[in-house]
Amino acid sequence: MPNIAIIGSQWGDEGKAKIIDYLSEKSDVIIRFQGGANAGHTVIVEGDQFIFHMVPSGIMYPDKVCIIGNGVVFDAEQFIAEVNALREKGISLEDRLFISDLAHLVLPYHKVLDQASESNMKDAKIGTTGRGIGPAYADKVNRIGIRTGDLLDWHNFVSKLSTAFEQKRFLIENVYNSSFDFSLNDLIDKYKNLREVITPKICDTGSYIFNCLQQKKNLLFEGAQGTFLDIDHGTYPFVTSSNTVSGCICSGAGVGPSAIHEVVGIVKAYTTRVGNGPFPTELANETGDKLRSEGGEFGATTGRPRRCGWFDSVQVRKAIQLNGFTRIALTKLDVLNSFDEIKICTHYTMNGKNIEQFPSSPTGLEKIEPGFETHPGWKSGISQCKKISELPENAINYVRRIQELCYNIPILIISVGPDRSQTIEVEPL
Ligand code: IMP
Repeated sequence: MPNIAIIGSQWGDEGKAKIIDYLSEKSDVIIRFQGGANAGHTVIVEGDQFIFHMVPSGIMYPDKVCIIGNGVVFDAEQFIAEVNALREKGISLEDRLFISDLAHLVLPYHKVLDQASESNMKDAKIGTTGRGIGPAYADKVNRIGIRTGDLLDWHNFVSKLSTAFEQKRFLIENVYNSSFDFSLNDLIDKYKNLREVITPKICDTGSYIFNCLQQKKNLLFEGAQGTFLDIDHGTYPFVTSSNTVSGCICSGAGVGPSAIHEVVGIVKAYTTRVGNGPFPTELANETGDKLRSEGGEFGATTGRPRRCGWFDSVQVRKAIQLNGFTRIALTKLDVLNSFDEIKICTHYTMNGKNIEQFPSSPTGLEKIEPGFETHPGWKSGISQCKKISELPENAINYVRRIQELCYNIPILIISVGPDRSQTIEVEPL
């Protein structure tokens, strides 16, 4: 197996976790490289559902190594909750779950600041997950962050935490007219306990991964969020605070570009978005409601209803350009089973003129009109199909049209249901 990167091609929630879980079977090491507990990766194995926010989705295979890379902002409390849940299910994590010593910590004050900043923004809210992601990355870039590696030297950690806490307390009290409901001593006590579980797993993951490369192990890079939530290339400012495109794998995992052999774009058969910001093909009507209920489109992290709309090929073509996808995995095709008609956005127009590129600014996006073509639905269940030839003709035509609109990139997988078994491998790697 080549080393594979899995990247969301839309606004996240494309069903990456299922594909990661599926492809993990043939991989040795699964690596997260960006984002934090804002991600909500749902894996369903034989009817049992697991939602991961911090732990890589590949953990469900007992013989795989999972790594949280340096580009991740690490939420220790969330991590321990997931570790405990996995242990309760009898899943052993010994010697196969590692955390980069360079990953920055998301601390409780980051969450309070995230939520305070959102409340303060009134109508300009981003609609964050409230998980402290923006403030934690801001501290990293501002060079005042605290890293997991700092936990290895307790006195050093306490000293850094004390300085940071005083700064944040000043901010919350004087800028946001609010207060923390925890003291510095509460934080110190909390991290003294958390540290026991975390420190044995902290290591130089960059060197670990390099050794794996030397030994020709198969690596799988697990992206979180989606291309249009990228801090540079997404619909800024309605984005997350990390780079989500394939280019950030190198810096976020500590590998060179030659370590990545295939880039698989996860493409949902329609489009969703959670949080604020422009969304050209959004259906704020009954059809959108139907997509939401059929697709179970509620945030895995916040439970918020996701905004739903038709498949937008202009957007996915832009994602292909940004990520260099070599394969596509088409997900949630079964969600469209009961629709009479299904639309695909093929192009945008602005003032009657065709727009070739996905506009880079939200104001540009607000001005465009999406142009659609209509396809007949297939009106039957497809979750038992094991080969593309077993799909109804209208479903095959829909898939082939998406492929054509996506530069004819080979389709690796079509997902026809949430379970591992409900997966059609079209052109295996
Ligand atoms: P933050 O990452 O919590 O700062 O949120 C910024 C934006 O990214 C908001 O619109 C969130 O809803 C969105 N977002 C963050 N993580 C995810 C995700 O995993 N899936 C979908 N949207 C996300």
